Amino acid sequence: MAAAITLLLKVLVTSVVVNSTLLERCHGDSFIDLDVFGAKVLNVIATPVENYSTTLMGVQHANLNFCNVTVTYTHPGTADRVNVFACFPLTGWNGRFLGRGGRGFITGVDAGVLAPVTAQGFAAASTDGGHTLHKQSAETWALNSPGNINWNLLEDYAYKALGDMTLIGKQLTSQFYSSPPKYSYWAGCSTGGRQGLMFAQKYPELYDGILALAPAINLDKFVVAEYFVQHVMNRVGHYPLPCELDAINKAAVEACDDMDGVEDGVISLPSLCRFDPNTLVGNDFECDGRTQKFTKAGTVAANAFWASPINPVEREKWYWYGVNHGTPFNGMAGTKCANSSGTSCLGAPFVVAEEFIRLFLAKDPDYATTKMTDDEYFSMFHRATQEYSSMLGTSDPDLSGFKSRGGKMITWHGLADELIHVNGSSNYYKQVMDLDKNVADYYRYFEAPGVNHCFGGIGPRPEEDETLAALMAWVENGTAPETLTARSQAGDGTVRELCLYPKTLVYTGGAPKKPASWQCQ
Ligand SMILES: *[C@@H]1O[C@H](CO)[C@@H](O)[C@H](O)[C@H]1NC(C)=O
Ligand SMILES: *[C@@H]1O[C@H](CO)[C@@H](O)[C@H](O)[C@H]1NC(C)=O
Ligand SMILES: *[C@@H]1O[C@H](CO)[C@@H](O)[C@H](O)[C@H]1NC(C)=O
Ligand SMILES: *[C@@H]1O[C@H](CO)[C@@H](O)[C@H](O)[C@H]1NC(C)=O
Ligand SMILES: *[C@@H]1O[C@H](CO)[C@@H](O)[C@H](O)[C@H]1NC(C)=O
Repeated sequence: MAAAITLLLKVLVTSVVVNSTLLERCHGDSFIDLDVFGAKVLNVIATPVENYSTTLMGVQHANLNFCNVTVTYTHPGTADRVNVFACFPLTGWNGRFLGRGGRGFITGVDAGVLAPVTAQGFAAASTDGGHTLHKQSAETWALNSPGNINWNLLEDYAYKALGDMTLIGKQLTSQFYSSPPKYSYWAGCSTGGRQGLMFAQKYPELYDGILALAPAINLDKFVVAEYFVQHVMNRVGHYPLPCELDAINKAAVEACDDMDGVEDGVISLPSLCRFDPNTLVGNDFECDGRTQKFTKAGTVAANAFWASPINPVEREKWYWYGVNHGTPFNGMAGTKCANSSGTSCLGAPFVVAEEFIRLFLAKDPDYATTKMTDDEYFSMFHRATQEYSSMLGTSDPDLSGFKSRGGKMITWHGLADELIHVNGSSNYYKQVMDLDKNVADYYRYFEAPGVNHCFGGIGPRPEEDETLAALMAWVENGTAPETLTARSQAGDGTVRELCLYPKTLVYTGGAPKKPASWQCQ
């Protein structure tokens, strides 16, 4: 008995013991002759990190053992200084490389955020794109001076630093393990999702499998549209209380919730939802324990949020999509108030939308977005496409390079995304399908009812590990995902199998929490 226990302990201990060869190899001098066309390496730092623990998005990770590598390089002739961050498990490498993406105006993540995937055996890398990480804002790097875009850093953010990172990351991996990665994967949401599609379009050879989630593609179009409701509130000069907007959203959900046959707070078929917020004006709603009345201004903001941007002098002109009913207002349509009186509020636009207009389109740090006329606002759409679509649009539907190298890609997008119009993703998928009716052989798109931007919302959401596992099974075993498993974010046990687009989930009876009660039609 005692012997058996000793043996068991030994097994447990050795399984976390780090590989001493790898531990010794974890220093800057081990990584030599890193070769990327157009880049000059300035410095490599590598230090072992043992028993690292961190908490990310509420999840605790402990006892992580990895080699923490930072490669600093420049593109000679530009004044940039880009950092590639890589983490290599000191034990149990699974033979795979994983690239991670950023969000908003942030290009990637640092070693502290990469570290947890080393516990699953991935060699992981990301990049800061040559500018400060952790800062959603592009204020510090967008302009060299008023009127002058920092094109080098913008190109780094758009694609260049990401291609470099992948080439450098794979070379580091090969040198560290004396063997190249067998498979390479990309996983990102939002900006990271756009970067995933960017790889499939621009650098199809770099990744075998790509998760491009809630992608910020069509950036030149949707980001200007993202400001539309703020523009309307500025024009009206009235900003509803956040709780009034919440109450309008709640009323819309109540009106359309059961159109899918289940009352669960989720509008599964948002394209069927017709809801007129004018019917609420004058009715009461509760705000921080005070009874208030729905306002006309609230109606105007809500309709601007749901509708496509409408130019009052050219009403038929189409600019971009609207947002589904049931989506929280706080992303694009945020307001901030000093108190609950209803007269103390200002617009709280999403920082990327406001900065894109002010810094990248007006190119003037002092440009007053709140004072734009309709002419000025609507002219931004054309200017954005004119100046940025080839660099940032990431909407090229020709994926033939990715297809022929045998790549596989999965996108899911929440139908209640408060920052990126989900119809931009379905429309992109349709365009790929128009070019190649066999798109599902290598690219599959799923919509997640009731899920907000990347996470959040009442609807069940595909979890990262499970979705990545589905992608790996497709790449490595040829098992294409017919559906994508989504799980309750509130922990109530709901499981749903999301449908391959253009099919949608239809309730067929039985316990709504069970996947068998729904069918793809
Ligand atoms: C790892 O760190 C935890 C605290 O973060 C500590 O309790 C534990 O003793 C450490 N283990 C080793 C093997 O160093
Ligand atoms: C990784 O290394 C870099 C550069 O030395 C350092 O700044 C960073 O704090 C390290 N991260 C972790 C998680 O150890
Ligand atoms: C999104 O596209 C669907 C299908 O074409 C359409 O019915 C719906 O109205 C669109 N929604 C928005 C918010 O633009
Ligand atoms: C609410 O804030 C506004 C603007 O700061 C101020 O003028 C007003 O007196 C405040 N009202 C109450 C009820 O506190
Ligand atoms: C591929 O299939 C084998 C056999 O069923 C399984 O053991 C392995 O885990 C699968 N690989 C992936 C990445 O799913």
